[in-house]
Amino acid sequence: MAEILHEHVQPKVEFVKPTADALVRCEGLEKWYGSVHALTGVDFHAEPGEIVGLVGDNGAGKSTLIKILSGAEQQTSGRIFFAGKEVQLTSPKVAMHLGIETIYQYTAMVPQMSIARNMFIGREPLSGLRIGSLGIMDQKAMVAHATKSMTNIDLTRRSPNTTVEELSGGQRQAVAIARAMYFKSKLLILDEPTNHLSVKETNKVLDYVASLKEQGIGSIFISHNLHHIYPIADRIVAMARGAKIADVRKTDTSIDGLTEMIV
Ligand SMILES: Nc1ncnc2c1ncn2[C@@H]1O[C@H](COP(=O)(O)OP(=O)(O)OP(=O)(O)O)[C@@H](O)[C@H]1O
Ligand SMILES: [Mg+2]
Repeated sequence: MAEILHEHVQPKVEFVKPTADALVRCEGLEKWYGSVHALTGVDFHAEPGEIVGLVGDNGAGKSTLIKILSGAEQQTSGRIFFAGKEVQLTSPKVAMHLGIETIYQYTAMVPQMSIARNMFIGREPLSGLRIGSLGIMDQKAMVAHATKSMTNIDLTRRSPNTTVEELSGGQRQAVAIARAMYFKSKLLILDEPTNHLSVKETNKVLDYVASLKEQGIGSIFISHNLHHIYPIADRIVAMARGAKIADVRKTDTSIDGLTEMIV
């Protein structure tokens, strides 16, 4: 007797849609670098207090997407909405002003400067004194604020005057995260922050990100390692060749399910 062949029709898993309260929402983002089509019309969003894990192969377009969201690059076409309003993210300053903070492993800090100075780069408090037209930085205020912020991130045994080059990769991430907390960022973007970190440091960074969630801060966390982001992510977005190929709530999937979807 002929065996009946069961065809397993794989239903295409629908992408999660943004709510009306989405913190950030992109529609049809396209990015061309010369003849390279780095983003081919990507819809993406993050809700307040949501941790979105962004995964995908080398060259998938992850960094391009977050560079656009952090104002470092501009899209060729497509629209971006932040807290419901359409925005033109023409520079990192514009994005930071809106409350979008981005952390890269090596470029976020000036190693030769102190923790306190690094916390306030580009946003230094002024003392009220001036030399000609130049305001003078309020060093005391920076150290005081840095000390307070550092207690939030377990860096209490370090002086705020310590230079960042004396810190480990994980501790640098911690300073960057303290900075995001201090400036009350609304969206924190981390592009492969745990590359080159020890397991212990990686877990610390993951803990910090989870603690930001409790304060309502949304995070977009890029990683090659699904196992790193799976425990803390609320939702996983996967990209391939400049397009979004999966957008699922963690509660609707498993690591195995995701791996199958992505590969
Ligand atoms: N400045 C640039 N000029 C030209 N092409 C670029 C530029 N930046 C990125 N690309 C190209 O755009 C595509 C997407 O790159 P992107 O850096 O966004 O990938 P990614 O998903 O972050 O990859 P990885 O996991 O390796 O970091 C790649 O083909 C890349 O070569
Ligand atoms: Mg990248």
